[in-house]
Amino acid sequence: MGNEKTDLRGMKVLIVDDTAVNIDVLRQTLAPEGYEISVATSGEQALKIAPRFVPDLILLDIMMPGIDGFETCRQLKCNDSTKEIPVIFISAKNETDDIVKGFSLGGVDYIVKPIKQAEVLARVETHLQLQYLKKEQEKSKLEVIKKNHQLQESMEKLKSTQEQMIQSEKWASLGCLTSGICHEVLNPINIISCHTQALAMERENDSELIKDLDSIQEEIQKIERIIEKLEHFVNQEGLVLTKNDINSQLTTILDDLDKEGRFKRISVIREFNLDLPKIGFDRKLLRQVFQNIFHNAICAMNQEGTLTIKTEESSKEININSKSPSSNIREENFVRITVSDTGHGIEKGQLSKIFNPFFTTKPPGQGIGLGLSVCYSIIQKHGGIIKAESDGSAGAKFVLYLPMISIAPVG
Ligand SMILES: Nc1ncnc2c1ncn2[C@@H]1O[C@H](COP(=O)(O)OP(=O)(O)OP(=O)(O)O)[C@@H](O)[C@H]1O
Ligand SMILES: [Mg+2]
Repeated sequence: MGNEKTDLRGMKVLIVDDTAVNIDVLRQTLAPEGYEISVATSGEQALKIAPRFVPDLILLDIMMPGIDGFETCRQLKCNDSTKEIPVIFISAKNETDDIVKGFSLGGVDYIVKPIKQAEVLARVETHLQLQYLKKEQEKSKLEVIKKNHQLQESMEKLKSTQEQMIQSEKWASLGCLTSGICHEVLNPINIISCHTQALAMERENDSELIKDLDSIQEEIQKIERIIEKLEHFVNQEGLVLTKNDINSQLTTILDDLDKEGRFKRISVIREFNLDLPKIGFDRKLLRQVFQNIFHNAICAMNQEGTLTIKTEESSKEININSKSPSSNIREENFVRITVSDTGHGIEKGQLSKIFNPFFTTKPPGQGIGLGLSVCYSIIQKHGGIIKAESDGSAGAKFVLYLPMISIAPVG
């Protein structure tokens, strides 16, 4: 800093005195320095003005009618908005008692009347300078805190991008491996299938053999279904977004399942909001999502119960990343689709795992645990959210949010 003089013009001084002559002298002394000045003629008035004017310094007369300078100072120091403002006492008295009392109440200095202009100027300037430096220090402290916060946020972002990159690399290599295995397994499966069909035609009168060959064909189909799911899982193409009506997409899927006889003893309730606008989504991929969710619900209800599908508009704020809530709130409008069933529900401990790849509670051969993880990544690619709710017994509820604004395809 060297000897550079700080520009204190514009700093605010509150003069508190009941005598007009004193006020004039102080004002005439200080105004030419460029300070902004406000005046209170009593302690009560000072207590009202100070929180609004927020001075950098208060010159406070001790002897005043009403509450005196000491009491005024005490009250200023009790108020959060004024307690940091330095107070210089002004009094005709110069007894040590008063000086000590003034300091003990939080005063920073003392000026004795009659007022000597040079002394007032020097003291005021010194304390304004201190106050200025204090404020600058606080500002830079805040700046450091802000910078630290920004740094922390950037670190978090970097970490999560890194994690995502590692994760996507992992998936990419897992994808290659899985595709390779699927391809290698499909070849011998096709050959076995051809041979069993040929054998069945050759020996069509051997009913025992035909029964065995049918069982082999059934198992082959199971393997093919698993391979198909694995391929879906690893070969998720980019999105083909078109503007669609979510209600008619759901209607088609539900009608198809009905035609296949999947809802025999299940009543399906459609609570569609027919005023929903068309939104951008990939018809093929969203079909996969709802087929998985409906299939799971049908299994959980063991073919009997109620399946409710509700569509509505939702504009509430949504926190899309629990790790760093502040930076991940979205306020845009969504279409919300809720699928509730009356099946066996999902245990609390399992709710957080059901979207993990290969998590299943189904017996071998009935599920490999890929359905919901596929749903999750498809919905995420759409910029949407999928959540599951269940209290562990009275059914499960899947809530999906799809953004109404058209989004650029991801990945
Ligand atoms: N509606 C539901 N009610 C109760 N449990 C459910 C429901 N939907 C999913 N789950 C639970 O979540 C698990 C994972 O579901 P997910 O669809 O990912 O795999 P899966 O159905 O077991 O196998 P896959 O879909 O690959 O054939 C299920 O095994 C089941 O325990
Ligand atoms: Mg499933």
